[in-house]
Parts: sequence; C-alpha cells; structure tokens
Amino acid sequence: MNAFPQTIHFIGSNTPRRLEISARNLEVEGEIPAEIDGAFFRAVPDNAHVPMFEDDIALNHDGMISRFHFENGAVDFDIRYVETDRYLAEKEARRALFGRYRNPFTDDPSVEGVDRTVSNTTPVWHAGRLFMTKEDGRGYEINPHTLETVGKWDYYGRLRSETFTAHPRVDAITGELFFFGYEAGGLCSLEIAYGIADAEGNLVSEQWFEQPYCATIHDFVITQKYAIWPIFPTTADLDRLKAGGAHWAHQQELESWLAIMPRYGKVEEMKWIKGPPGISAFHEVNAYDDGDLIHIDLCLTDTNAFSFMREAGGIERDQQSLQGALTRWTIDMSEPDPQIEERPLGPPGDLPRLADVDQGRPYNRAWYLSMNPQGGPPMPGGPVGINFNALMRIEPGNGRLSVMGVPPGAAISEPAHVPSSDPNHGGWLMSVVDIPNAPPGQGAPHDYASELWIIEADEVEKGPIAKVKTGLALRSQVHGSWVSRTKLEQSKVR
Ligand SMILES: [Fe+2]
Repeated sequence: MNAFPQTIHFIGSNTPRRLEISARNLEVEGEIPAEIDGAFFRAVPDNAHVPMFEDDIALNHDGMISRFHFENGAVDFDIRYVETDRYLAEKEARRALFGRYRNPFTDDPSVEGVDRTVSNTTPVWHAGRLFMTKEDGRGYEINPHTLETVGKWDYYGRLRSETFTAHPRVDAITGELFFFGYEAGGLCSLEIAYGIADAEGNLVSEQWFEQPYCATIHDFVITQKYAIWPIFPTTADLDRLKAGGAHWAHQQELESWLAIMPRYGKVEEMKWIKGPPGISAFHEVNAYDDGDLIHIDLCLTDTNAFSFMREAGGIERDQQSLQGALTRWTIDMSEPDPQIEERPLGPPGDLPRLADVDQGRPYNRAWYLSMNPQGGPPMPGGPVGINFNALMRIEPGNGRLSVMGVPPGAAISEPAHVPSSDPNHGGWLMSVVDIPNAPPGQGAPHDYASELWIIEADEVEKGPIAKVKTGLALRSQVHGSWVSRTKLEQSKVR
C-alpha cells in the first residue's frame, strides 16, 4: 500500500501537494500598493512520502519553504522542500524512514542517529539570514533568493542547545534575537536553553535551566525587562516513547507555570509562579512592562487544542467544546510572591500577529484568527485539522474588535504584517485564503483555489484591497514572515 491516509492530517487543505514549483507574474485582482516590496515567506508542512504509520500527523510532515515575491506590483510564487538530513535520507530511499512524530524509537534502523527535524514551522529572518525552524531541532538556513537549503545553523559552532524554538522574538529596535530551546540536552530532557543573538547575528549568551516537568514550550515572550516562559502541562515521557507511544500527553490535573528571568539577567535571578492546572496555550501575542507590572497576552484554552495530545492524556473532548479566550495575565513583580491575575481581552482564537516594532513594548493593536460560526462548516486542514475562517483585529487596551470573514467554507491562514513608511498609515496584512471551487458541501474537500489577500491592517472589516490568484490549491501553512526589500538586499547569502 503506497497511499496517504485519509485522516484530518491528509485531507482538505492538508491534502498532500508535494510540488516544488515556480510561477511568475501571478494574476492580481485590485491594486497592490507600491510600498509592498519584498517577500512573504511561509512554512508549509507537506510530506514527501507516504508515512510509515496511518496515525501520522501534520506536525510530522516535511517542511517546505514558500515565497510570494513582490516587486513593482508583480508577484512571483515559489515553493521548495527544506533539504533537511531527514528529507535527504528519505529522498535517497524513496520512502519514509522516520516514524511517528518526535519518536525516534519508531524509525527504520537505517536512520538511527540521523537528525529528525523537519523544519516545518516558522521562517525566521534575522541579521541578514533566513532560517526555517521547528522546535525539535536546530534551524536550517535557507537562501532567500533561490530557496535552496544552505545547511543547519549553529551560530558558527557556538550553539550548545540541540533545539531552537520556532518562536524566537526579535526586538525590532535593538535588532537582537531572543530564543530558547527546550529538551535542549536531548530527548525528554528537562533542560531549557535561553539565548540572545545580537543585531549582527552573533550568539552573545546562552544559559540553561530546568523546567519542573518536560513540557512542550512552543512560544515565549520578552518585555524590555524580562524573558518569560509560560509552561503548560503537556508532557513527554521517555518510557512512553520507547513503547512506541506519543511524544506529548496533556495532563489536565497538573499545574501550569510562569518562568520569569530578567531579559539580560541570570538563571539565579529567575522567579517561578504557579498557574492554574490543565490550561494550555501555543501562542502568546505580546508582553510588556507597565511599571512593576508585566502584562502577557495569550491565546488561552482550558485544555490542549490538539486532539492527539488530549487523547494521549486520556482526555475525551470534542474540538468544538474547547473553551478559551484571548487572555491577559498581569503579574506584579514588586510583590514578594507574585500571582497571576487573569482577565479576558477578546474572543477565542489563535495565530496572533503584531507589528514588528511593537514586540515587547506597549501596543495598541494585534491581529489573530478565529472561527465565525456563521461562515458555514470550516474547511478541514491546518495543523489541528480544522481551519479558521475569520481574521480579527483587536485593540488590547479597549477590547475594540473588527472582523473580516471569508467566503462560505473557505479557510484563512496566519497573516503577516507589512509596515508602511507613512506614520499615519497602519500598513497591510497579507494572508492566504483557500476558497472551495464548489458551493459548501458539494465539492471534494481538496478542490479549492488559493489566493493571497492584501488587506488594510487597520480596516480589516473592509475586506481585501487586492487578491493574488495562484491558480493552485496550496497546502496549509503554519507560520509566515514578511521580509522587506531593504532586508533582502542586506542578505548575507547571495
Ligand atoms: Fe507556532
């Protein structure tokens, strides 16, 4: 049998496409503002081979780097595989050799010891270099002009951590990149590495500490004063892995934690704050200092949003029954024993984005994706298996919300923000929207057309001002990044 399974990880916008293609001068409806000049890079999981196991999941699929390139109003599209060690080994063998998601004990013996990461989560631009990242390994550098894989990135041999988050935080003002790696010392290790790369891309600090249990830490935040890790009780277990089981199981009864370190401080100065049990968040929007207070805005749910992580922990909950909200946690650092104060900011959702300049600073707008129940049944696909169908703009200070829907049955991917040089203009968002070719309920789930929508960032309710038609059905992305022409011209790779 050499056919893909027909689960939520392989249907709808998760349908395997596996095409490395280039298309020039895409059709554009509307007008692309002249200031939009640069590249929108996206990380797209799309496995090159039929998986070894039927219960394979989208997070385990080979990473592809995709690019919409904008120049003088023309748009070109490219997508290529990230040539990880794993991709190259399987390409040579013409079949899958790596087994279950983050479980090396399920691999073909021929690839024992080969790096398993698939670089499928976030394209990260820093100090003239483009990386494709996934939290279970180190980043791979990509040539931003050709999309060729340059190789694994270890800061000129200085990086000790075996892993590098897919959610580093770049301070746009100082140019520094703040990152961490969990399971830094190896599979299921408790060690977390916290690193800082300066504006030139040199690793200037790397410190290690241990977390209370081996949790998945997908994202973290910085403020001007602190680096902060929210830790939620989805845990790994080496014995379970050796038995061929899941890497992650959510533990509904276990407490959560907030680990806080001065941004330029030492492990010895860390504060640990216990949080509510059972909760989960994969993405934080932003955090900032307000005198002695820290505000952390996060996409919080009452349990883990991934069904396979819940099921491994014995939790039976429908995806639709999950409760959550865009939530603000406030901590008073002047208290001897600081506690988390919680209040809702906005409707539930995920995949939050900021303007780059607002990173770690007080901010008055953000964007994220949510579900519009009036939008018809959601298209299957995306990392959790169900796509979003609404784009939200929120003002965290006053809760003001504006919403852009998509056509019935369509799906919207995480937007990127493109700043304007005009201080009175809020810039633009760009986001891939997958639109079914047939009326809802009538067509095949893999039959849709992918368009890139350009939206006024501060007027999302008005809908797109331009649509770039790919003429293709694109596989769902995870995260994306906008890289301006100025930055592309400063690329260290030619
Ligand atoms: Fe993420």
